[in-house]
Amino acid sequence: MVTKNNQFHHISMPLLFCLAFLAFQVTSRTLQLQDASMHERHEQWMARYGKVYKNSQEKEKRFRIFKDNVNYIETFNNAANKPYKLGVNQFADLTNEEFRAPRNGFKSHMSSSITRTTPFKYENVSAVPTTVDWRQKGAVTPIKDQGSCGCCWAFSAVAATEGIHGISTGKLISLSEQELVDCDTKGMDHGCEGGYMDDAFEFIIQNHGLNTEASYPYKGVDGKCNAKEEAIHAATITGYEDVPTNNEKALQKAVANQPVSVAIDASGSGFQFYKSGVFTGSCGTELDHGVTAVGYGASEDGTKYWLVKNSWGTEWGEEGYIRMQRDVNSDEGLCGIAMLASYPTV
Ligand SMILES: *[C@@H]1O[C@H](CO)[C@@H](O)[C@H](O)[C@H]1NC(C)=O
Repeated sequence: MVTKNNQFHHISMPLLFCLAFLAFQVTSRTLQLQDASMHERHEQWMARYGKVYKNSQEKEKRFRIFKDNVNYIETFNNAANKPYKLGVNQFADLTNEEFRAPRNGFKSHMSSSITRTTPFKYENVSAVPTTVDWRQKGAVTPIKDQGSCGCCWAFSAVAATEGIHGISTGKLISLSEQELVDCDTKGMDHGCEGGYMDDAFEFIIQNHGLNTEASYPYKGVDGKCNAKEEAIHAATITGYEDVPTNNEKALQKAVANQPVSVAIDASGSGFQFYKSGVFTGSCGTELDHGVTAVGYGASEDGTKYWLVKNSWGTEWGEEGYIRMQRDVNSDEGLCGIAMLASYPTV
């Protein structure tokens, strides 16, 4: 027994070392290949999104973040127990902290002090369609891209204004966010540093309208107000109303009648890399992003959703849109979507 064991020991140890060595070789080779292919993916991704890094250190740092994000996204997608998928989009070389800071310009820290006591013209709406998609009714302009300027509030307010103008006049006109960024500076809105949709509506009312995107194009940085262009009005609104807070049924009544500005908590990694499907979270209710609800419906498996227009270009989400779970188990709605909704009136 002992001899046999020793023999076995003598034979097996080198074999074991050999195998271990081989395994190590294979593993490190695999890792090298994975790293090489990841480097290749990073290069391809950089070319696709026109990314240029200022030096090789920055590139190495960005590569590591990219790699972590790709691994996170693929692990999430392979788990396949969620009704939505993530994708390697334009935010793939940003940490979640970096992603949040400049993009989500809805100023939530003050929203608790906002008093909301406007009338709600849709309060007695009793029958609403099961599905609504304002894109199919000429009330939604193509997806826009705010870039790294935190003026989501302007994009949200403009999309809602474009919507009610399209519905009431039959003419869909793309309107100017830059005019709000540059000119709506006397109140609580601060261009790329954040603002509120209701204050944007207030500005449009006071200014008697807004110019077109074509005449006052988007720059993505704070600028000086062009008074000449500001004086030209392609569309206007006469008022705005707040949807009763924390009430998805009330929100549904409003969205059944027009696109509605909503504030959400868009700070999570799931939101950062959302690609397709019905987004179910996780997310909190610290509202930091303004978007526009342009419809609602239910997916094939019956999951009810809000159809939401974002302003991060068409590479993000479903061609720039996200479907967010509707009628969830909390009054605030998923990501707080029912907390601070409002719409312009004409
Ligand atoms: C809704 O109905 C109530 C009761 O009839 C009425 O007092 C209220 O003015 C109506 N609201 C609107 C916005 O029409």
